Amino acid sequence: MFTPQGPTLRELAVQALSSVEHGYDLLAPKFDRTPFRTPDPVLDAVVEAVRPLGPFRTGLDICCGTGAGMGVLRRLCGERIVGVDFSAGMLSAARSAVPALPGAPAVDWVRADARALPLAPSFDLAVSFGAFGHFLPAERPAVFTGARDALRPGGLFAFPVPAPAPVASRLYWALWGFDTAMRLRNLLRRPPFVMYYRTFRLPDVLDDLAGAGFTTRLLPLSALGRRPDGSPRCALVVARRT
Ligand SMILES: C[S@@+](CC[C@H](N)C(=O)[O-])C[C@H]1O[C@@H](n2cnc3c(N)ncnc32)[C@H](O)[C@@H]1O
Repeated sequence: MFTPQGPTLRELAVQALSSVEHGYDLLAPKFDRTPFRTPDPVLDAVVEAVRPLGPFRTGLDICCGTGAGMGVLRRLCGERIVGVDFSAGMLSAARSAVPALPGAPAVDWVRADARALPLAPSFDLAVSFGAFGHFLPAERPAVFTGARDALRPGGLFAFPVPAPAPVASRLYWALWGFDTAMRLRNLLRRPPFVMYYRTFRLPDVLDDLAGAGFTTRLLPLSALGRRPDGSPRCALVVARRT
């Protein structure tokens, strides 16, 4: 999972003992060599699923990190793409990783908190990858309302969601263990580092999207495989601003 070029265990521990924002500032130079960056097969599957729903002129990547989703937007949008994140370190790494290119859409970066997005309704497409675990369920409506307000009427908010791990699986207990350790850490230390894997339950997420004024549907990301019962390992939530 981790390579010798990635962060050391000590660096990861220091990151996890900071705030989310400062932790990512510290991790930014090595972030792309961690398993936390959204892998390319997921990004490619999202491009293929979203492309037929276009065309899109303008795109927004919420919690862009080092720019994984900006690569997705560059392939889908014709005019302008914007990455927003609250970590200055991650934005700085993203600027180097996703430079403006001649003939490609304009690239802009905004440093802002996704729980209070300051963006006018100018986007056709918003995406987000790998960041929802940083929001408590009570904070999700503010994130979704901000995404809605950044979209033009009819605009799409799309993000992948993995199928929940079966209770008998090792992954289920690994995620349970991780969340429990983080809850303990957050009881004992301030500022908290909010990162929970098991708080982003699809039925609640769909309710929150409806509450924020989206109509939603799920598209299977079949390229990412199927579980033994035939259901997709990963689906794309497509939420349209009504
Ligand atoms: C796991 S990284 C994912 C980065 C990228 N989207 C990817 O898939 O590789 C999570 C990102 O969310 C950002 N983030 C977390 N909470 C945030 C908030 N409240 N507002 C803005 N950005 C936030 C972090 O700074 C970090 O860059």
